[in-house]
Amino acid sequence: MPTFRTVIEPFRIHSVEPIHMTTPEHRLAALDRAGFNLFKIDAQDVLIDLLTDSGTGAMSRDQWAALQHGDESYAGSPSYYIFRDAVRNLFPFEHVIPTHQGRAAERILFSVLGGPGKVVPNNTHFDTTRANVEYTGATAVDLVIDEGRDPQADHPFKGNMNVEALRALLLERGDDVPVVFMTITNNSGGGQPVSLANLRAVKAVCDEFGKLFFLDACRFAENAWFIREREEGQHDRDVVDIVRDIASLADGMTMSAKKDPMGNIGGWLAMNDDDLAAACRELLILTEGFPTYGGLAGRDLEALAQGLKEVVDHDYLNYRIRSTAYVGEALKQIGIPVLSPIGGHAVYIDARALLPHIDPLHYPGQALAVALYEMGGVRTCEIGTVMFGQQSDGTEVAAPLDLVRLAIPRRTYTQSQMDYVVEVCELVAATSEQLKGFRIAEAPARLRHFTAKFERVI
Ligand code: F0G
Repeated sequence: MPTFRTVIEPFRIHSVEPIHMTTPEHRLAALDRAGFNLFKIDAQDVLIDLLTDSGTGAMSRDQWAALQHGDESYAGSPSYYIFRDAVRNLFPFEHVIPTHQGRAAERILFSVLGGPGKVVPNNTHFDTTRANVEYTGATAVDLVIDEGRDPQADHPFKGNMNVEALRALLLERGDDVPVVFMTITNNSGGGQPVSLANLRAVKAVCDEFGKLFFLDACRFAENAWFIREREEGQHDRDVVDIVRDIASLADGMTMSAKKDPMGNIGGWLAMNDDDLAAACRELLILTEGFPTYGGLAGRDLEALAQGLKEVVDHDYLNYRIRSTAYVGEALKQIGIPVLSPIGGHAVYIDARALLPHIDPLHYPGQALAVALYEMGGVRTCEIGTVMFGQQSDGTEVAAPLDLVRLAIPRRTYTQSQMDYVVEVCELVAATSEQLKGFRIAEAPARLRHFTAKFERVI
């Protein structure tokens, strides 16, 4: 068999939607109206939208066909059983509870397990996970390995948990820890994977202390592909078997089906413990819905069941991971500092390194994200001091890193569209010395990045 350099998309385009060409003047006016906050820009004014990979991917022909099988019965819909069995094929948990998205699963689980005085360790909490832990009065602790905090450290599994630190926490506060979490891949740490060996080590510590072990498994298939590529003894294995190995270590999971399950909406909570499941279902009925639909329509459940079959396809995962790396490598080649190794769903630019003349408290990530939009119509997301600098006492500190995330929706943009994105980054980097920072003109008390208004620092 000849081998080729080019990894192609394992699909062809079946239905297209227009994107809107805009001019820098048009975009500057949009920025002005939005107070320079990219969350407040209308999607119609965006050319390439890399704000998130969540719910923004393209469904397949077979997912659209599956929608037609949706049975909208309030109770006991066959669509629920098809969904449940597709989840269990990969994650064979006893109880599978649908929710409208990941954060609903988090809210329900932590309402049951959290509370004042409790401590929840994770490699790195995603922001909604942290917020849902903290909302109950519990403390969220991030215990990723040291390499996971260093944007340039070269480590194949930068999402790994620091097992010694977990052990020390359990020795000191064991009684207060209701559950140990692992996020795969580690989104807040750069879409970095966790190794099977690390998951096994965490499981062993959980067993030693008698603790529940849960996965936040949004990007499980990407994580499993990295394991197949990078972990000794895994190269010839089917991704489905790797996913089942991961699942067999855990007692349960929270899930956003807007990521690897290829849905535009959806999530679930799954677990083995009967009492815990009963308590969660009680809360589910209060705010999400009856246990056989959660917050979803029968047709959503059908589309997700099909998506779960497609995401573990090796040709898809090879293309997915390779096409993300392609963007990261192209940026590296033109001298733009990116977090490495390149993650699964996104490329992260180190804005603080690219814009050293902008003080972190003037938000280099925001300056870069605004410039990418203004010059090229590319919408990205600041992950830095705007997002994490606000303290509960009203003060502000620089976040550990100022990053800009280029999150890549699944099966959505072509290689030439991503080449265009790289070109926009190149143009912005060439004029980076002229970029100015921002100050916040108006912000709410929490989660300010969604609604704050900014002014340029002149
Ligand atoms: N956990 C992780 C690791 C996530 O990345 C997300 C969402 C969630 C939980 C919450 O899921 O959005 O369905 O409620 N991440 C999106 C992002 C929003 O842009 O990274 P949700």
